[in-house]
Amino acid sequence: MSPATGPKSPTTSDSRVAVKPINMNRTSKKSAGSASLATITGEDVSAWFGQRKVLDRINLTMQPGKVTALIGPSGCGKSTFLRVLNRMHELVPSASMAGQVLLDGVDIYDPTKRVTDARREIGMVFQKPNPFPAMSIYENVISGLRLTSIKKSKSEFDDIVEQSLTKAGLWKEVKDRLDAPGGGLSGGQQQRLCIARSLSVMPRVLLMDEPCSALDPTSTFRIEETILELASEVTIVIVTHNMQQAARVSDQCAFFLAEAGTPGMIVEQGDTTKIFQNPDDPRTQDYVTGRFG
Ligand SMILES: Nc1ncnc2c1ncn2[C@@H]1O[C@H](COP(=O)(O)OP(=O)(O)OP(=O)(O)O)[C@@H](O)[C@H]1O
Ligand SMILES: [Mg+2]
Repeated sequence: MSPATGPKSPTTSDSRVAVKPINMNRTSKKSAGSASLATITGEDVSAWFGQRKVLDRINLTMQPGKVTALIGPSGCGKSTFLRVLNRMHELVPSASMAGQVLLDGVDIYDPTKRVTDARREIGMVFQKPNPFPAMSIYENVISGLRLTSIKKSKSEFDDIVEQSLTKAGLWKEVKDRLDAPGGGLSGGQQQRLCIARSLSVMPRVLLMDEPCSALDPTSTFRIEETILELASEVTIVIVTHNMQQAARVSDQCAFFLAEAGTPGMIVEQGDTTKIFQNPDDPRTQDYVTGRFG
């Protein structure tokens, strides 16, 4: 789970496309009364690697029970912002940040807060599926729980495994082979296994950094379905280079840009429909229609 060390190029399956007829009226399966839905807010977030400033005063509220998409050209700081949101940025030796990250109004960087709590409450799914390949599917799902001091009975673990895999949309495919190694699953299944692993510790926010960029279209579709289903239970922030995907899965969208050697900033944020169909800033229009980036 080491942080990325530099910008990545979009892959073919994750390339941007001109935005044309997209179904904006996605059906939400939101269920009422989810107790743990959280708002996560970045306030004046700046970030540096050594002396180099890569994010400049980002203000963004990611709303409870909604999917927020972060879009923008390679190197504009989307992954860095995600890592600031769950305190992974500080794992890079030269890295520093300024500003606040509030989870339901409480600063996760407050000195009295434990970093492990922040990372449990704010889970992360990475671009490349990273299950433990030799570990069983069952153990992969609860590997995060095993690292905590929380003691559970076998039947409690069984329930968590079933619930997490069900939420991740993988249960039916693996329920008869939970003892098989995680590495034996397809790429799309491995990514859903990683989502199940993140869900097993009951995060309040799920950060997803280009979760489909290594996947084929069918697996991508399956993960998008999973995202839409999860949106009622966990606040989701997804980075994607795929504009169709941003339009399909997100309610809110933030367009990041780092112009000519300057740190990344947010050009425009708001309802996904507006960002794609009627943005205020011409740079947003150019980006979402594939004219630059
Ligand atoms: N570990 C690191 N050490 C030094 N610089 C870094 C590190 N990680 C990222 N950077 C730099 O920070 C800037 C923002 O990078 P980041 O990976 O956040 O961009 P991104 O928007 O996620 O790009 P991509 O779309 O290619 O994933 C880039 O200029 C990058 O080179
Ligand atoms: Mg990135």
